[in-house]
Amino acid sequence: MPKENTGRVRGNWGSRLGVILAVSGSAVGLGNFLRFPVKAASNGGGAFMVPYFIAFLLVGIPLAWIEWTLGRYGGKHSHGSAPGIYHRITGGKSWAKYVGAISIFVPLVISFYYVYIEGWALAFSLFSLTGQLQTAAAAGDMPAFLNGFLGIEKNQYFSGPWTAFTIFIVVFVLNYAVIFRGVKMGIEKLNKVAMPILLGCGIILAVRVLTLGTPDPVNHPEWNVISGLGFMWNPDWSQLLRARVWIEAAGQIFFTLSVGMGAILAYASYLRQRDDVVLSSLTSASTNQFVEVILGGSVGLVAAAIFYGAAQAQTIAQGGAFGLGFVTMPMIFANMGGGTIMGFLWFFLLFVAGITSSVSLLQPAIAFLEDELSLSRHSAVLYLGAAGFCITSFVILTMAYGTLDEMDFWAGTVMPVISATIEVILFAYFLGVRRGFEEMHRGADMKVPGIYKFIIKFITPIYLCVLLVVWGYQEWFSVIMMRGIEDPNQFFFKLLTRILLLVVFGVLILLIVRADRRGRFPAMKGKEL
Ligand code: ALA
Repeated sequence: MPKENTGRVRGNWGSRLGVILAVSGSAVGLGNFLRFPVKAASNGGGAFMVPYFIAFLLVGIPLAWIEWTLGRYGGKHSHGSAPGIYHRITGGKSWAKYVGAISIFVPLVISFYYVYIEGWALAFSLFSLTGQLQTAAAAGDMPAFLNGFLGIEKNQYFSGPWTAFTIFIVVFVLNYAVIFRGVKMGIEKLNKVAMPILLGCGIILAVRVLTLGTPDPVNHPEWNVISGLGFMWNPDWSQLLRARVWIEAAGQIFFTLSVGMGAILAYASYLRQRDDVVLSSLTSASTNQFVEVILGGSVGLVAAAIFYGAAQAQTIAQGGAFGLGFVTMPMIFANMGGGTIMGFLWFFLLFVAGITSSVSLLQPAIAFLEDELSLSRHSAVLYLGAAGFCITSFVILTMAYGTLDEMDFWAGTVMPVISATIEVILFAYFLGVRRGFEEMHRGADMKVPGIYKFIIKFITPIYLCVLLVVWGYQEWFSVIMMRGIEDPNQFFFKLLTRILLLVVFGVLILLIVRADRRGRFPAMKGKEL
């Protein structure tokens, strides 16, 4: 095992399959089953696949190659997070380590609310088995059931967010237990078990939906599997003229591949120096696309269109991912043969997809604390866990005021694009494409097509910059200015969330200063690979 500069031994993945499954597990998440179908159906159906796959080829794949390469390179120098990696690839530029803070901030903040949502999935899988979901669905009460569970309203189902809180604690402990066991014994083992379960559940659900036939032949003979698939996939080419569709497609690629989130950097830093990155990253990304398009695109909204018709399914899609997953799906399962077990499988699938992603979101911060501040894993888990617990508790108790949405806006939407733009510019213009490709091809099992030198140097950065400007102008500006928020409580809590996020970022900057004082970012003579 390689010795790190600090004299400590960094772990490695146990096998190639293990790391591929772990990165696939990071990518396959709630986004594949909830976010993707909603985005695709609201943005042109089959036509959405055009900007989606263009973004995959021009942004997703290049970023995955860059992150795997930079991560493995960082591992050689005992850096598993962006501050140390950026410091080195810029030849020791003093600002680079601070810029790297974004790549720890993004996954950490996403983890604060992502772990909570995982808890909803676990809770709902149990509610499926106990029959509570079926009862609420039969009474037409699913929105109230979900709102009660989340503590947004008090009703006959829940008197506050206490059940959600309890389940969150269970999921929280599970996440940290995995992280505590380390990359090989924790994360790799989890993914080796979880990924086959996830694929199995996904395939069973897809087959069940695709064999639903015509559930209500008397009243709605036209609502069937073919029309359901047609709703999801019939292309509306006119949508391609809307800028928003291209932005949504690129945004989905970011979220689903977990690029711009620091997670792949951290995972790849535990590779051995001769381990392939080119084919492995392509395999993980393709696995994610298969799960997203084939499985994610065959379950949720297709089932909704089969049971409620295309017009209602469109309204459901516009209502967002959580409404689809946690309100509509239980109603569908309540009317489906084998619905109890299918409902359990659906929510358990979401939970498994969630936990394999959330551990990857925690790892960059853990790697930073271990590598740059020489904390033991025990202390790193303890400190991060204490901070995470307090912040997620805040999210749970203030959910009704939009704090989760506020965090998701910054960490799940805006910052990954900024972080990825910085990353590709540093790779292409500071490390240099030629040196970067040399590093990428060390131990590679396939050659990256030469055209990608051009794509990484020009197309990917331009694509990302245009995305930032157009998205920023069209959508983000009014959210940033908090336009349209009339409730003063909501205004207050959203502002408080922003202050909290600034504090988190500030703490990260202070920790980088501290690591610098400990000599973790020494002066360098030029760029040494
Ligand atoms: N890539 C993860 C997801 O899709 C974050 O949910």
